Amino acid sequence: MSDSLILGIETSCDDTGVAVLQNDRVLSSVVSSQIDVHREWGGVVPQLARREHENVIQIVIAAALKRAGVKCSDLSAIAVTYGPGLAPALEVGVRTAKQLAQEHSLPLIAVNHMEGHTLSGLLRNRHGKPYSGLDKALFPCLAVVVSGKHSDLVWIENIGHYRLLGQTLDDAPGEAFDKIGRMLDLGYPAGPVISQLAQGHNRAAFDLPRPMQHSDNYHFSFSGLKTSCLYQTNRLKDELGAEFAAVIPDYCASVEEAIVESLLGKTLRAAKEHQPNMVLFGGGVSANKRLRFRFRRELAALDIPAYFAPKQFCTDNGAMIALAGYYKLQRGETVADIAALDRDPSISIEDANKKSASF
Ligand code: KG4
Ligand code: ZN
Repeated sequence: MSDSLILGIETSCDDTGVAVLQNDRVLSSVVSSQIDVHREWGGVVPQLARREHENVIQIVIAAALKRAGVKCSDLSAIAVTYGPGLAPALEVGVRTAKQLAQEHSLPLIAVNHMEGHTLSGLLRNRHGKPYSGLDKALFPCLAVVVSGKHSDLVWIENIGHYRLLGQTLDDAPGEAFDKIGRMLDLGYPAGPVISQLAQGHNRAAFDLPRPMQHSDNYHFSFSGLKTSCLYQTNRLKDELGAEFAAVIPDYCASVEEAIVESLLGKTLRAAKEHQPNMVLFGGGVSANKRLRFRFRRELAALDIPAYFAPKQFCTDNGAMIALAGYYKLQRGETVADIAALDRDPSISIEDANKKSASF
């Protein structure tokens, strides 16, 4: 098959991401983040997200094409996230992608955001060098997708064949970082701040729960940790008054360790039972340094290599969407009826298995 040039569009949450890929090689990736807009609300406001995507999407598309040195007429296809995510935000990307595809008579590929995160460790730079160090993907493998909304343990039989082994039953790990960070007045998103404050501090200073470690399934739960942190934070603030600030780094280190160990327990159990050839990591929380260190070390002890995408492809971006789109294009899975394509806010990774038959 000859080379494909894919434009990937991502607007499922608060990042407007657009990238151009030549097969699995990233020629350009541009992300416009709305964090500053949502910060004062302490989380993403869907209607504000829609407005911001609408304001910047054409500019981000033009920048991605320019950086890649290509024109719309050079493209082979357009890939767009159609779910899961916030409906008002998804609608902007889907509408824009439909218009572009129709205007330039290009095939349109509907991509599942979770498939994008799952495969982000397979992205290569423009010279063909894999960002994650993974030269040849070995299947079947396990993927850990940890973000502000998900913590999915995914069994990948092969690209395009996914089984959801486990997921969070309540909050996602990124959400836990963000909500606990809010209790500590660390702003939004708090994951990177907690991680930075935690460095070099005592991870055992505070006793925090690791929920569901012994349950007989691969699911996760973070709401118990959040509640425990709420009680402890209030108690510490009462007891320590102005001195509370001095214990925040140790507190952050303990929180980070509790979240990482909650993820580790179930993932290691799945790895032992299913013997994957490798483990791929994706999603914003997989940018976390401590998570990378602990997982690399524990998986190495099982002789299983771990691969992480660089930070810019852990958080939401258009490159991972174009990559999932590239594999779908190879399988001939393009949208048959462009007008019928609609966003679907609540699909799971297993919906990426189906050929998009409904549109
Ligand atoms: O994948 P992502 O950009 O958006 C979703 O699809 O949710 O992930 C965003 C989440 C936020 O909750 C943020 O706090 C968290 O990822 N995050 C981190 C780090 N960088 C981003 N959490 C812990 N450590 C980090 N270094
Ligand atoms: Zn995401």
